[in-house]
Amino acid sequence: MQSSQKSLNTARKSIIITLKKVSISKHTNQKTSLNEIIYVACNIFHWKLVKNIKINIEAPEKYPLHCDQNLLIQCFSNLILNVLSYAFLGRDEERNIDILLSKTIKNEEAFYQVVFKDNSIGISKDNIDKIFDPFHTSNRQIGAGLGLSIVYNAMKFSLHGDISVQSQLGEGTRFTLDIPIKGR
Ligand SMILES: Nc1ncnc2c1ncn2[C@@H]1O[C@H](COP(=O)(O)OP(=O)(O)O)[C@@H](O)[C@H]1O
Ligand SMILES: [Mg+2]
Repeated sequence: MQSSQKSLNTARKSIIITLKKVSISKHTNQKTSLNEIIYVACNIFHWKLVKNIKINIEAPEKYPLHCDQNLLIQCFSNLILNVLSYAFLGRDEERNIDILLSKTIKNEEAFYQVVFKDNSIGISKDNIDKIFDPFHTSNRQIGAGLGLSIVYNAMKFSLHGDISVQSQLGEGTRFTLDIPIKGR
């Protein structure tokens, strides 16, 4: 293997280890609410909404939470940024992001569930298996492929929740995030 390729691989490995350490390191927990976190994340990109994307938030009640709010804001802003960057390339029809908040129980533990979906071009079967991998990107000019791997590590190892994705080419993409109600 060429020495430049070797050092690139070493650098990649060390970035992955650092990402994992960052996501499991101690974060400061604050009293907040899921509603507030979603609201802040959506408004970071207010100026980009001239792209004619409508964000609909369905939150039937207030969902109080004790967690690292910056980490969660970062997770949702990554999802929104991806929609702005990739989802509607070359599409003229109505562009929507729907964010639905609810509660759910899994294995006797209570979670807030956020369904985050767009009605976009969707993600191919080949791509979908890799989207949480570090450095996986469909456009090196836009991104480094780290956004969703950061979200995945934060959700799994820092917030002790879960994230999954489903997509249908030409129809859209849906991320489901489960956040433990009882912070840890
Ligand atoms: N909502 C979406 N619609 C279509 N493709 C998406 C969406 N979200 C993520 N992707 C795909 O997943 C890849 C990985 O995303 P990410 O980890 O954030 O890296 P980056 O944004 O740097 O490309 C993107 O390059 C894109 O191909
Ligand atoms: Mg991204």
